[in-house]
Amino acid sequence: MATVHIGANKGDIAETVLLPGDPLRAKFIAEKFLENPVCYNQVRGMLGYTGTYKGKKVSVQGSGMGMPSIGIYSHELISEFGVKNLIRIGSCGSLQEDVKIRDVVLGVSASTNSRYVHNFELPGDFAATASFELLVKAKEIADKKGIEIKAGNILSSDVFYDDNLDSWKKWAKMGVLAVEMEAAALYMNAARLGAHALTLLTVSDSLVTHEVTTSEEREKTFTDMMEIALELA
Ligand code: HPA
Repeated sequence: MATVHIGANKGDIAETVLLPGDPLRAKFIAEKFLENPVCYNQVRGMLGYTGTYKGKKVSVQGSGMGMPSIGIYSHELISEFGVKNLIRIGSCGSLQEDVKIRDVVLGVSASTNSRYVHNFELPGDFAATASFELLVKAKEIADKKGIEIKAGNILSSDVFYDDNLDSWKKWAKMGVLAVEMEAAALYMNAARLGAHALTLLTVSDSLVTHEVTTSEEREKTFTDMMEIALELA
């Protein structure tokens, strides 16, 4: 049955869903990488497609930007459409000198400055963690393809335009690799609702060096990340 935000029928969505932030990226991925892609959602322009990759059914769903948005889509995908594996694919800003522009980052865990976790009324702090199963599989696929991976703690931030220009340095001191805006909520929902989740990122900019990627560079690293994500399906 269609939900508030996803106008699909049960069975329209695969057990494994890739989640790019940008809905047009979902369209691009579906049309470029999937066989027989069918668009199952257009509500709010947040496009979702299902097709096959090497014979396996896989979906690609835009998540929107930020934790409230990916929180909504991941919740409905798991609880209403029976999705088992949710793989966020996105970009991030590096917080470390040795995490370079174009690197592929695997979010083993996601720290956050968000209050999203308060929804669960826990008597302490929660460590938002990726699925170990998906993590190991992603690393194996990357090794086989000769794609180097930086794996570790990432920061899911509620703020892109931080009023305190140096606050990222405190996370960097704790070894956090990179900043993005969605993984922690995805990991929390997956934990609460009993699904597997993983975040794959490419470094689009560096808070350390202030470098940014060109669009050609983004395209190339994007393909590395996509190949890993699709093989996980
Ligand atoms: N901050 C937050 N999210 C991001 C960034 C950033 O610098 N780069 C890519 N996603």
